[in-house]
Amino acid sequence: MGDRSGAGSSRRRRTGSRSSGQGGGGPAAAAEDVRDAIAGPDVGARGDAPALVPDKDGDAGVSSGPLDLRCHRLQDSLFSSNSGFSNYRGILNWCVVMLILSNARLFLENLIKYGILVDPIQVVSMFLKDPYSWPAPCLIIVANVFIVAAFHIEKCLAAGTMTEQVGLLLHVANLVTILCFPAAVALLDKSITPMGSALALTAYTILFLKLFSYRDVNLWCRQHRAKSKAASAGKKASGDSAQGAVSYPDNLTYRDLYYFIFAPTLCYELNFPRSPRIRKRFLLRRLFEMLFFIQLQVGLVQQWMVPTIQNSMKPFRDMDYSRIIERLLKLAVPNHLIWLIFFYWLFHSCLNAVAELMQFGDREFYRDWWNAESVNYFWQNWNIPVHKWCLRHFYKPLVRRGNSKWMARTGVFLASAFFHEYVLSIPLRMFRLWAFTAMMAQVPLAWIVGRIFQGNYGNAAVWLTLIIGQPMAVLMYVHDYYVFNYEPSTAGA
Ligand SMILES: CC(C)(COP(=O)(O)OP(=O)(O)OC[C@H]1O[C@@H](n2cnc3c(N)ncnc32)[C@H](O)[C@@H]1OP(=O)(O)O)[C@@H](O)C(=O)NCCC(=O)NCCS
Repeated sequence: MGDRSGAGSSRRRRTGSRSSGQGGGGPAAAAEDVRDAIAGPDVGARGDAPALVPDKDGDAGVSSGPLDLRCHRLQDSLFSSNSGFSNYRGILNWCVVMLILSNARLFLENLIKYGILVDPIQVVSMFLKDPYSWPAPCLIIVANVFIVAAFHIEKCLAAGTMTEQVGLLLHVANLVTILCFPAAVALLDKSITPMGSALALTAYTILFLKLFSYRDVNLWCRQHRAKSKAASAGKKASGDSAQGAVSYPDNLTYRDLYYFIFAPTLCYELNFPRSPRIRKRFLLRRLFEMLFFIQLQVGLVQQWMVPTIQNSMKPFRDMDYSRIIERLLKLAVPNHLIWLIFFYWLFHSCLNAVAELMQFGDREFYRDWWNAESVNYFWQNWNIPVHKWCLRHFYKPLVRRGNSKWMARTGVFLASAFFHEYVLSIPLRMFRLWAFTAMMAQVPLAWIVGRIFQGNYGNAAVWLTLIIGQPMAVLMYVHDYYVFNYEPSTAGA
Protein backbone atom coordinates (compact mmCIF):
# COMPACT_ATOMS: atom_id res chain seq x y z
CA MET A 1 0.00 0.00 0.00
CA GLY A 2 3.01 2.24 0.14
CA ASP A 3 3.22 5.22 -2.14
CA ARG A 4 6.51 4.61 -3.80
CA SER A 5 5.87 6.71 -6.85
CA GLY A 6 4.22 9.67 -5.14
CA ALA A 7 7.28 11.63 -4.11
CA GLY A 8 9.02 10.78 -7.31
CA SER A 9 6.16 11.99 -9.39
CA SER A 10 5.76 15.27 -7.54
CA ARG A 11 9.50 15.79 -7.93
CA ARG A 12 9.14 15.03 -11.63
CA ARG A 13 6.25 17.44 -11.82
CA ARG A 14 8.31 20.27 -10.35
CA THR A 15 11.23 19.57 -12.65
CA GLY A 16 8.85 19.46 -15.56
CA SER A 17 7.39 22.84 -14.70
CA ARG A 18 10.86 24.40 -14.45
CA SER A 19 12.01 23.03 -17.74
CA SER A 20 8.87 24.27 -19.42
CA GLY A 21 9.79 27.69 -18.05
CA GLN A 22 13.18 27.46 -19.65
CA GLY A 23 11.54 26.39 -22.83
CA GLY A 24 10.12 29.89 -23.01
CA GLY A 25 6.44 29.06 -23.31
CA GLY A 26 3.40 29.51 -21.06
CA PRO A 27 2.81 31.29 -17.75
CA ALA A 28 5.69 29.53 -15.98
CA ALA A 29 8.15 30.93 -18.51
CA ALA A 30 6.67 34.38 -18.12
CA ALA A 31 7.03 34.11 -14.35
CA GLU A 32 10.70 33.14 -14.66
CA ASP A 33 11.24 36.18 -16.87
CA VAL A 34 9.49 38.44 -14.34
CA ARG A 35 11.68 37.06 -11.53
CA ASP A 36 14.80 37.55 -13.61
CA ALA A 37 13.77 41.12 -14.38
CA ILE A 38 13.13 41.87 -10.69
CA ALA A 39 16.49 40.38 -9.71
CA GLY A 40 18.28 42.59 -12.23
CA PRO A 41 20.78 41.78 -14.92
CA ASP A 42 23.41 40.49 -12.54
CA VAL A 43 21.43 37.99 -10.64
CA GLY A 44 19.55 36.13 -13.30
CA ALA A 45 19.61 32.39 -13.43
CA ARG A 46 21.21 32.37 -16.85
CA GLY A 47 24.93 32.30 -16.21
CA ASP A 48 25.76 36.05 -16.23
CA ALA A 49 24.98 36.29 -12.51
CA PRO A 50 27.80 36.22 -9.98
CA ALA A 51 28.91 32.68 -9.60
CA LEU A 52 27.05 30.88 -6.87
CA VAL A 53 29.22 29.84 -4.00
CA PRO A 54 29.34 26.07 -3.96
CA ASP A 55 28.39 24.56 -0.64
CA LYS A 56 30.57 22.05 1.09
CA ASP A 57 29.14 19.23 -1.04
CA GLY A 58 30.04 21.15 -4.13
CA ASP A 59 26.40 21.82 -5.01
CA ALA A 60 26.26 25.22 -6.60
CA GLY A 61 22.45 25.31 -6.49
CA VAL A 62 22.18 25.33 -2.68
CA SER A 63 24.25 28.35 -1.75
CA SER A 64 23.28 30.51 1.18
CA GLY A 65 23.22 33.98 -0.42
CA PRO A 66 20.10 36.13 0.17
CA LEU A 67 19.20 35.87 -3.51
CA ASP A 68 18.92 32.12 -3.27
CA LEU A 69 16.40 32.14 -0.45
CA ARG A 70 13.56 32.21 -2.93
CA CYS A 71 11.02 29.65 -1.86
CA HIS A 72 8.03 30.61 -3.95
CA ARG A 73 7.32 30.26 -7.58
CA LEU A 74 4.30 30.37 -9.82
CA GLN A 75 2.53 27.05 -9.40
CA ASP A 76 -0.94 25.56 -9.07
CA SER A 77 -2.35 23.62 -6.14
CA LEU A 78 -2.30 19.88 -6.66
CA PHE A 79 -6.08 19.52 -6.86
CA SER A 80 -6.29 22.12 -9.68
CA SER A 81 -6.59 20.43 -13.02
CA ASN A 82 -3.94 22.87 -14.38
CA SER A 83 -1.34 21.36 -12.04
CA GLY A 84 -1.20 18.21 -14.17
CA PHE A 85 -0.95 16.12 -11.00
CA SER A 86 -2.59 12.74 -11.34
CA ASN A 87 -1.13 10.44 -8.74
CA TYR A 88 -4.00 9.62 -6.37
CA ARG A 89 -2.70 6.22 -5.34
CA GLY A 90 -2.63 7.20 -1.68
CA ILE A 91 -6.26 8.28 -1.85
CA LEU A 92 -7.17 4.96 -3.43
CA ASN A 93 -5.46 3.21 -0.54
CA TRP A 94 -7.40 5.42 1.86
CA CYS A 95 -10.63 4.32 0.15
CA VAL A 96 -9.65 0.68 0.61
CA VAL A 97 -8.80 1.21 4.29
CA MET A 98 -12.10 3.06 4.85
CA LEU A 99 -13.98 0.32 3.02
CA ILE A 100 -12.42 -2.38 5.17
CA LEU A 101 -13.05 -0.42 8.37
CA SER A 102 -16.66 0.40 7.58
CA ASN A 103 -17.37 -3.17 6.50
CA ALA A 104 -15.67 -4.53 9.62
CA ARG A 105 -18.03 -2.38 11.65
CA LEU A 106 -21.01 -3.64 9.66
CA PHE A 107 -19.77 -7.20 10.08
CA LEU A 108 -19.53 -6.80 13.86
CA GLU A 109 -22.91 -5.12 14.04
CA ASN A 110 -24.40 -7.99 12.05
CA LEU A 111 -22.81 -10.60 14.32
CA ILE A 112 -24.02 -8.84 17.48
CA LYS A 113 -27.54 -8.46 16.07
CA TYR A 114 -28.08 -11.90 14.52
CA GLY A 115 -25.38 -14.22 15.89
CA ILE A 116 -23.88 -16.75 13.48
CA LEU A 117 -26.38 -17.59 10.74
CA VAL A 118 -24.07 -19.58 8.46
CA ASP A 119 -25.49 -23.08 8.15
CA PRO A 120 -23.99 -25.56 5.64
CA ILE A 121 -26.87 -28.06 6.13
CA GLN A 122 -29.31 -25.41 4.97
CA VAL A 123 -27.25 -25.05 1.76
CA VAL A 124 -27.58 -28.77 1.03
CA SER A 125 -31.35 -28.58 1.61
CA MET A 126 -31.55 -25.79 -0.95
CA PHE A 127 -30.40 -28.24 -3.61
CA LEU A 128 -32.05 -31.44 -2.32
CA LYS A 129 -35.53 -31.88 -0.87
CA ASP A 130 -35.39 -35.64 -0.61
CA PRO A 131 -31.97 -37.37 -0.24
CA TYR A 132 -33.27 -40.29 -2.38
CA SER A 133 -34.40 -38.08 -5.25
CA TRP A 134 -31.86 -36.14 -7.31
CA PRO A 135 -33.86 -34.58 -10.15
CA ALA A 136 -31.39 -31.83 -11.07
CA PRO A 137 -28.31 -34.10 -11.52
CA CYS A 138 -30.54 -36.60 -13.39
CA LEU A 139 -31.67 -33.82 -15.73
CA ILE A 140 -28.05 -32.91 -16.41
CA ILE A 141 -27.17 -36.55 -17.19
CA VAL A 142 -30.13 -36.78 -19.60
CA ALA A 143 -28.63 -33.81 -21.52
CA ASN A 144 -26.27 -36.34 -23.14
CA VAL A 145 -29.18 -37.49 -25.30
CA PHE A 146 -29.30 -34.08 -26.99
CA ILE A 147 -25.52 -34.00 -27.46
CA VAL A 148 -25.60 -37.41 -29.15
CA ALA A 149 -28.56 -36.32 -31.30
CA ALA A 150 -26.71 -33.20 -32.51
CA PHE A 151 -23.64 -35.33 -33.25
CA HIS A 152 -25.57 -37.82 -35.40
CA ILE A 153 -27.37 -35.09 -37.32
CA GLU A 154 -23.97 -33.58 -38.16
CA LYS A 155 -22.56 -36.99 -39.13
CA CYS A 156 -25.45 -37.57 -41.57
CA LEU A 157 -25.10 -34.06 -42.99
CA ALA A 158 -21.37 -34.52 -43.51
CA ALA A 159 -21.89 -37.88 -45.22
CA GLY A 160 -24.58 -36.38 -47.44
CA THR A 161 -27.24 -38.85 -46.30
CA MET A 162 -29.46 -36.01 -45.11
CA THR A 163 -30.43 -32.79 -46.87
CA GLU A 164 -29.59 -29.43 -45.33
CA GLN A 165 -33.29 -28.63 -44.84
CA VAL A 166 -33.96 -31.86 -42.92
CA GLY A 167 -30.78 -31.28 -40.91
CA LEU A 168 -31.90 -27.75 -40.03
CA LEU A 169 -35.34 -29.01 -39.01
CA LEU A 170 -33.85 -31.71 -36.78
CA HIS A 171 -31.37 -29.27 -35.23
CA VAL A 172 -34.17 -26.79 -34.49
CA ALA A 173 -36.26 -29.57 -32.92
CA ASN A 174 -33.27 -30.68 -30.85
CA LEU A 175 -32.51 -27.12 -29.67
CA VAL A 176 -36.14 -26.33 -28.85
CA THR A 177 -36.38 -29.56 -26.84
CA ILE A 178 -33.20 -28.60 -24.98
CA LEU A 179 -35.03 -25.52 -23.70
CA CYS A 180 -38.51 -27.01 -23.24
CA PHE A 181 -37.72 -30.38 -21.67
CA PRO A 182 -35.91 -29.14 -18.51
CA ALA A 183 -38.42 -26.30 -18.16
CA ALA A 184 -41.28 -28.81 -18.18
CA VAL A 185 -39.51 -31.02 -15.61
CA ALA A 186 -38.75 -28.00 -13.41
CA LEU A 187 -42.37 -26.87 -13.51
CA LEU A 188 -43.99 -30.29 -13.06
CA ASP A 189 -41.65 -32.19 -10.75
CA LYS A 190 -42.40 -31.10 -7.19
CA SER A 191 -39.25 -32.73 -5.80
CA ILE A 192 -36.91 -30.30 -7.58
CA THR A 193 -35.81 -27.26 -5.54
CA PRO A 194 -35.53 -23.75 -7.04
CA MET A 195 -31.73 -23.88 -6.69
CA GLY A 196 -31.44 -27.33 -8.27
CA SER A 197 -33.76 -26.26 -11.05
CA ALA A 198 -31.81 -23.02 -11.69
CA LEU A 199 -28.59 -25.01 -11.89
CA ALA A 200 -30.05 -27.52 -14.35
CA LEU A 201 -31.60 -24.80 -16.51
CA THR A 202 -28.29 -22.92 -16.60
CA ALA A 203 -26.55 -26.12 -17.73
CA TYR A 204 -29.17 -26.61 -20.46
CA THR A 205 -28.84 -22.96 -21.55
CA ILE A 206 -25.08 -23.43 -21.91
CA LEU A 207 -25.70 -26.64 -23.87
CA PHE A 208 -28.16 -24.83 -26.13
CA LEU A 209 -25.60 -22.11 -26.93
CA LYS A 210 -22.83 -24.68 -27.49
CA LEU A 211 -24.87 -26.91 -29.81
CA PHE A 212 -26.09 -23.84 -31.70
CA SER A 213 -22.46 -22.90 -32.27
CA TYR A 214 -21.54 -26.53 -33.17
CA ARG A 215 -24.24 -26.58 -35.84
CA ASP A 216 -23.27 -23.16 -37.24
CA VAL A 217 -19.54 -23.94 -37.51
CA ASN A 218 -20.11 -27.33 -39.16
CA LEU A 219 -22.49 -25.66 -41.61
CA TRP A 220 -19.84 -23.00 -42.40
CA CYS A 221 -17.32 -25.82 -42.95
CA ARG A 222 -19.67 -27.60 -45.37
CA GLN A 223 -20.29 -24.37 -47.25
CA HIS A 224 -16.54 -23.74 -47.39
CA ARG A 225 -15.92 -27.33 -48.55
CA ALA A 226 -18.53 -26.98 -51.30
CA LYS A 227 -17.02 -23.67 -52.44
CA SER A 228 -13.45 -24.96 -52.50
CA LYS A 229 -14.57 -28.14 -54.29
CA ALA A 230 -16.21 -26.04 -56.93
CA ALA A 231 -13.17 -23.78 -57.18
CA SER A 232 -10.59 -26.53 -57.52
CA ALA A 233 -11.89 -30.02 -58.00
CA GLY A 234 -9.47 -32.62 -56.70
CA LYS A 235 -7.29 -30.21 -54.70
CA LYS A 236 -8.04 -31.65 -51.26
CA ALA A 237 -5.53 -30.25 -48.82
CA SER A 238 -6.55 -26.88 -47.40
CA GLY A 239 -4.21 -24.52 -45.49
CA ASP A 240 -5.36 -25.98 -42.17
CA SER A 241 -4.78 -29.62 -42.99
CA ALA A 242 -1.37 -28.75 -44.43
CA GLN A 243 -0.36 -27.60 -40.94
CA GLY A 244 -1.54 -30.88 -39.39
CA ALA A 245 -4.69 -29.34 -37.94
CA VAL A 246 -8.04 -31.14 -37.92
CA SER A 247 -10.19 -30.33 -40.93
CA TYR A 248 -13.85 -30.99 -41.70
CA PRO A 249 -15.31 -33.68 -41.45
CA ASP A 250 -12.52 -35.31 -39.38
CA ASN A 251 -13.64 -33.16 -36.44
CA LEU A 252 -16.91 -35.11 -36.17
CA THR A 253 -15.92 -37.44 -33.34
CA TYR A 254 -17.33 -37.90 -29.83
CA ARG A 255 -13.96 -36.95 -28.38
CA ASP A 256 -13.94 -33.61 -30.22
CA LEU A 257 -17.57 -32.81 -29.34
CA TYR A 258 -17.19 -33.69 -25.65
CA TYR A 259 -13.98 -31.65 -25.45
CA PHE A 260 -16.02 -28.68 -26.67
CA ILE A 261 -18.91 -29.44 -24.30
CA PHE A 262 -16.60 -29.28 -21.26
CA ALA A 263 -14.28 -26.53 -22.57
CA PRO A 264 -14.76 -23.05 -21.06
CA THR A 265 -16.14 -21.51 -24.25
CA LEU A 266 -19.50 -21.29 -26.01
CA CYS A 267 -18.00 -20.93 -29.52
CA TYR A 268 -17.04 -24.10 -31.35
CA GLU A 269 -13.81 -24.34 -33.34
CA LEU A 270 -12.20 -27.25 -35.15
CA ASN A 271 -8.80 -26.45 -33.68
CA PHE A 272 -8.83 -24.73 -30.31
CA PRO A 273 -5.58 -23.11 -29.15
CA ARG A 274 -4.03 -25.49 -26.60
CA SER A 275 -1.65 -24.76 -23.75
CA PRO A 276 1.48 -26.93 -23.80
CA ARG A 277 1.06 -28.53 -20.34
CA ILE A 278 -0.97 -28.48 -17.12
CA ARG A 279 0.68 -26.15 -14.59
CA LYS A 280 0.05 -27.92 -11.30
CA ARG A 281 0.69 -24.92 -9.01
CA PHE A 282 -1.56 -22.70 -11.10
CA LEU A 283 -4.28 -25.35 -11.06
CA LEU A 284 -4.01 -25.87 -7.28
CA ARG A 285 -4.26 -22.12 -6.67
CA ARG A 286 -7.39 -21.88 -8.81
CA LEU A 287 -8.93 -24.94 -7.10
CA PHE A 288 -8.21 -23.46 -3.68
CA GLU A 289 -9.81 -20.16 -4.76
CA MET A 290 -12.84 -22.04 -6.07
CA LEU A 291 -13.39 -23.71 -2.72
CA PHE A 292 -12.63 -20.64 -0.63
CA PHE A 293 -14.73 -18.14 -2.59
CA ILE A 294 -17.78 -20.39 -2.85
CA GLN A 295 -17.75 -20.79 0.96
CA LEU A 296 -17.32 -17.04 1.32
CA GLN A 297 -20.24 -16.31 -1.00
CA VAL A 298 -22.55 -18.76 0.78
CA GLY A 299 -21.48 -17.37 4.17
CA LEU A 300 -22.07 -13.76 3.10
CA VAL A 301 -25.48 -14.60 1.62
CA GLN A 302 -26.63 -16.37 4.78
CA GLN A 303 -25.12 -13.97 7.27
CA TRP A 304 -25.58 -10.63 5.55
CA MET A 305 -28.03 -10.73 2.66
CA VAL A 306 -30.79 -12.97 4.00
CA PRO A 307 -31.48 -10.92 7.19
CA THR A 308 -31.42 -7.67 5.19
CA ILE A 309 -33.87 -9.09 2.67
CA GLN A 310 -36.11 -10.45 5.42
CA ASN A 311 -36.17 -7.01 7.05
CA SER A 312 -37.18 -5.48 3.71
CA MET A 313 -40.47 -7.32 3.46
CA LYS A 314 -42.40 -5.12 5.90
CA PRO A 315 -41.58 -1.79 4.16
CA PHE A 316 -42.64 -3.46 0.88
CA ARG A 317 -45.91 -4.64 2.42
CA ASP A 318 -46.61 -1.18 3.86
CA MET A 319 -45.43 0.53 0.68
CA ASP A 320 -43.22 2.72 2.87
CA TYR A 321 -41.06 4.23 0.12
CA SER A 322 -38.42 5.91 2.27
CA ARG A 323 -37.87 2.63 4.17
CA ILE A 324 -37.80 0.68 0.90
CA ILE A 325 -35.03 2.95 -0.41
CA GLU A 326 -33.15 2.62 2.87
CA ARG A 327 -33.40 -1.21 2.63
CA LEU A 328 -32.35 -1.11 -1.00
CA LEU A 329 -29.22 0.88 -0.17
CA LYS A 330 -28.48 -1.42 2.75
CA LEU A 331 -28.79 -4.47 0.53
CA ALA A 332 -26.66 -2.87 -2.20
CA VAL A 333 -23.44 -3.27 -0.20
CA PRO A 334 -23.49 -7.05 0.48
CA ASN A 335 -25.10 -7.73 -2.87
CA HIS A 336 -22.38 -5.87 -4.74
CA LEU A 337 -19.60 -7.43 -2.71
CA ILE A 338 -20.99 -10.92 -3.37
CA TRP A 339 -21.37 -10.13 -7.06
CA LEU A 340 -17.72 -9.02 -7.27
CA ILE A 341 -16.60 -12.20 -5.50
CA PHE A 342 -18.84 -14.22 -7.81
CA PHE A 343 -17.23 -12.56 -10.83
CA TYR A 344 -13.72 -13.46 -9.66
CA TRP A 345 -14.80 -16.95 -8.58
CA LEU A 346 -16.49 -17.82 -11.88
CA PHE A 347 -14.47 -15.99 -14.52
CA HIS A 348 -11.03 -16.25 -12.99
CA SER A 349 -10.96 -19.24 -10.64
CA CYS A 350 -13.45 -21.71 -12.14
CA LEU A 351 -12.95 -21.07 -15.85
CA ASN A 352 -9.16 -20.98 -15.48
CA ALA A 353 -9.20 -24.21 -13.47
CA VAL A 354 -11.27 -25.97 -16.15
CA ALA A 355 -9.13 -24.47 -18.94
CA GLU A 356 -5.93 -25.57 -17.21
CA LEU A 357 -7.24 -29.11 -16.76
CA MET A 358 -8.30 -29.29 -20.41
CA GLN A 359 -5.21 -27.44 -21.66
CA PHE A 360 -7.53 -24.92 -23.29
CA GLY A 361 -5.32 -22.05 -24.41
CA ASP A 362 -7.64 -19.03 -24.72
CA ARG A 363 -7.98 -17.60 -21.22
CA GLU A 364 -9.63 -14.31 -22.13
CA PHE A 365 -12.76 -14.85 -20.04
CA TYR A 366 -13.12 -11.18 -19.08
CA ARG A 367 -11.58 -7.85 -19.98
CA ASP A 368 -11.28 -4.62 -17.99
CA TRP A 369 -15.01 -3.99 -17.60
CA TRP A 370 -14.28 -2.12 -14.34
CA ASN A 371 -12.92 0.78 -16.44
CA ALA A 372 -16.15 0.90 -18.49
CA GLU A 373 -17.11 4.48 -19.26
CA SER A 374 -20.22 3.34 -21.09
CA VAL A 375 -22.82 0.61 -20.60
CA ASN A 376 -21.90 -0.84 -24.01
CA TYR A 377 -18.27 -1.21 -22.96
CA PHE A 378 -19.39 -3.07 -19.87
CA TRP A 379 -21.41 -5.62 -21.89
CA GLN A 380 -18.57 -6.02 -24.38
CA ASN A 381 -16.08 -6.87 -21.66
CA TRP A 382 -17.52 -8.46 -18.55
CA ASN A 383 -18.58 -11.88 -19.86
CA ILE A 384 -16.39 -12.68 -22.85
CA PRO A 385 -17.67 -16.24 -23.56
CA VAL A 386 -21.25 -14.94 -23.88
CA HIS A 387 -20.21 -11.78 -25.72
CA LYS A 388 -18.16 -13.79 -28.23
CA TRP A 389 -21.12 -16.10 -28.85
CA CYS A 390 -23.50 -13.15 -29.25
CA LEU A 391 -21.20 -11.47 -31.76
CA ARG A 392 -20.34 -14.58 -33.79
CA HIS A 393 -23.69 -16.35 -33.92
CA PHE A 394 -26.25 -13.61 -33.54
CA TYR A 395 -25.07 -10.00 -33.95
CA LYS A 396 -22.78 -10.29 -36.99
CA PRO A 397 -25.12 -12.63 -38.94
CA LEU A 398 -27.97 -10.17 -38.32
CA VAL A 399 -25.86 -7.18 -39.42
CA ARG A 400 -24.61 -9.08 -42.49
CA ARG A 401 -28.23 -9.74 -43.48
CA GLY A 402 -28.78 -5.99 -43.71
CA ASN A 403 -30.25 -5.25 -40.28
CA SER A 404 -29.11 -2.05 -38.64
CA LYS A 405 -26.67 -2.29 -35.73
CA TRP A 406 -29.36 -0.91 -33.45
CA MET A 407 -31.75 -3.68 -34.50
CA ALA A 408 -29.07 -6.34 -34.10
CA ARG A 409 -28.11 -5.04 -30.65
CA THR A 410 -31.77 -4.99 -29.57
CA GLY A 411 -32.12 -8.56 -30.89
CA VAL A 412 -29.12 -9.73 -28.84
CA PHE A 413 -30.42 -8.09 -25.67
CA LEU A 414 -33.86 -9.59 -26.34
CA ALA A 415 -32.34 -13.08 -26.51
CA SER A 416 -30.21 -12.36 -23.43
CA ALA A 417 -33.28 -11.07 -21.57
CA PHE A 418 -35.17 -14.23 -22.49
CA PHE A 419 -32.41 -16.49 -21.09
CA HIS A 420 -32.06 -14.42 -17.90
CA GLU A 421 -35.79 -14.74 -17.31
CA TYR A 422 -35.71 -18.43 -18.25
CA VAL A 423 -33.18 -19.36 -15.55
CA LEU A 424 -35.03 -17.30 -12.91
CA SER A 425 -38.77 -17.49 -13.52
CA ILE A 426 -39.05 -21.22 -14.14
CA PRO A 427 -37.17 -22.28 -10.97
CA LEU A 428 -39.21 -19.78 -8.92
CA ARG A 429 -42.40 -20.87 -10.74
CA MET A 430 -43.59 -17.30 -11.19
CA PHE A 431 -43.38 -15.02 -14.21
CA ARG A 432 -42.66 -11.49 -13.18
CA LEU A 433 -40.32 -10.40 -16.01
CA TRP A 434 -38.04 -8.33 -13.76
CA ALA A 435 -34.85 -9.86 -15.21
CA PHE A 436 -36.25 -9.57 -18.72
CA THR A 437 -37.07 -5.89 -18.20
CA ALA A 438 -33.68 -5.23 -16.60
CA MET A 439 -31.84 -6.70 -19.60
CA MET A 440 -34.04 -4.93 -22.14
CA ALA A 441 -33.55 -1.67 -20.25
CA GLN A 442 -29.83 -1.93 -21.08
CA VAL A 443 -30.43 -0.67 -24.64
CA PRO A 444 -32.01 2.70 -23.68
CA LEU A 445 -29.78 2.89 -20.58
CA ALA A 446 -26.66 2.57 -22.75
CA TRP A 447 -27.95 5.34 -24.98
CA ILE A 448 -28.84 7.67 -22.08
CA VAL A 449 -25.58 7.08 -20.15
CA GLY A 450 -23.57 7.51 -23.38
CA ARG A 451 -25.34 10.79 -24.11
CA ILE A 452 -25.08 12.38 -20.66
CA PHE A 453 -21.90 11.00 -19.09
CA GLN A 454 -18.37 10.65 -20.41
CA GLY A 455 -15.00 9.71 -18.95
CA ASN A 456 -14.92 9.31 -15.18
CA TYR A 457 -18.57 10.35 -14.90
CA GLY A 458 -19.50 7.60 -17.34
CA ASN A 459 -17.50 5.11 -15.27
CA ALA A 460 -19.27 6.24 -12.09
CA ALA A 461 -22.64 5.94 -13.85
CA VAL A 462 -21.85 2.35 -14.89
CA TRP A 463 -20.84 1.46 -11.32
CA LEU A 464 -23.99 3.06 -9.98
CA THR A 465 -26.25 1.09 -12.30
CA LEU A 466 -24.48 -2.11 -11.21
CA ILE A 467 -24.57 -1.31 -7.51
CA ILE A 468 -28.23 -0.19 -7.42
CA GLY A 469 -29.75 -2.14 -10.31
CA GLN A 470 -28.95 -5.62 -9.05
CA PRO A 471 -30.33 -5.32 -5.50
CA MET A 472 -33.48 -3.80 -6.99
CA ALA A 473 -34.01 -6.93 -9.09
CA VAL A 474 -33.15 -9.18 -6.11
CA LEU A 475 -35.67 -7.40 -3.89
CA MET A 476 -38.37 -7.56 -6.56
CA TYR A 477 -37.98 -11.31 -7.01
CA VAL A 478 -37.71 -12.09 -3.30
CA HIS A 479 -40.69 -9.91 -2.47
CA ASP A 480 -42.83 -11.50 -5.18
CA TYR A 481 -41.68 -15.00 -4.22
CA TYR A 482 -42.55 -14.29 -0.59
CA VAL A 483 -45.98 -12.92 -1.48
CA PHE A 484 -46.60 -15.83 -3.86
CA ASN A 485 -45.59 -18.59 -1.47
CA TYR A 486 -46.17 -17.33 2.06
CA GLU A 487 -49.15 -15.01 1.78
CA PRO A 488 -51.86 -17.16 0.15
CA SER A 489 -54.53 -14.49 0.41
CA THR A 490 -52.53 -12.18 -1.90
CA ALA A 491 -50.94 -14.91 -4.07
CA GLY A 492 -51.22 -14.18 -7.72
CA ALA A 493 -52.35 -10.62 -7.03
C1 LIG B 1 -24.93 -6.62 -28.60
C2 LIG B 1 -23.44 -6.76 -28.56
C3 LIG B 1 -23.01 -8.09 -29.17
C4 LIG B 1 -22.87 -5.60 -29.36
O1 LIG B 1 -21.48 -5.67 -29.36
P1 LIG B 1 -20.58 -4.42 -29.82
O2 LIG B 1 -19.19 -4.82 -29.59
O3 LIG B 1 -21.10 -3.20 -29.14
O4 LIG B 1 -20.91 -4.29 -31.36
P2 LIG B 1 -20.14 -3.41 -32.45
O5 LIG B 1 -21.16 -2.70 -33.28
O6 LIG B 1 -19.08 -2.59 -31.81
O7 LIG B 1 -19.47 -4.50 -33.43
C5 LIG B 1 -18.88 -5.62 -32.94
C6 LIG B 1 -18.26 -6.43 -34.05
O8 LIG B 1 -19.13 -6.55 -35.15
C7 LIG B 1 -18.41 -6.21 -36.33
N1 LIG B 1 -19.30 -5.62 -37.32
C8 LIG B 1 -19.90 -4.43 -37.27
N2 LIG B 1 -20.61 -4.23 -38.40
C9 LIG B 1 -20.44 -5.31 -39.16
C10 LIG B 1 -20.92 -5.71 -40.46
N3 LIG B 1 -21.70 -4.92 -41.17
N4 LIG B 1 -20.57 -6.91 -40.92
C11 LIG B 1 -19.78 -7.72 -40.20
N5 LIG B 1 -19.28 -7.40 -39.01
C12 LIG B 1 -19.62 -6.21 -38.48
C13 LIG B 1 -17.38 -5.21 -35.86
O9 LIG B 1 -16.29 -5.16 -36.74
C14 LIG B 1 -16.97 -5.82 -34.57
O10 LIG B 1 -16.09 -6.90 -34.80
P3 LIG B 1 -14.85 -7.22 -33.83
O11 LIG B 1 -15.45 -7.46 -32.47
O12 LIG B 1 -14.25 -8.45 -34.43
O13 LIG B 1 -13.99 -6.01 -33.88
C15 LIG B 1 -22.88 -6.66 -27.08
O14 LIG B 1 -23.33 -5.50 -26.49
C16 LIG B 1 -23.30 -7.85 -26.26
O15 LIG B 1 -22.63 -8.84 -26.24
N6 LIG B 1 -24.42 -7.72 -25.55
C17 LIG B 1 -25.05 -8.81 -24.81
C18 LIG B 1 -24.25 -9.14 -23.62
C19 LIG B 1 -24.98 -10.05 -22.72
O16 LIG B 1 -26.15 -10.22 -22.76
N7 LIG B 1 -24.25 -10.67 -21.86
C20 LIG B 1 -24.83 -11.53 -20.90
C21 LIG B 1 -23.91 -11.60 -19.79
S1 LIG B 1 -24.63 -12.38 -18.41
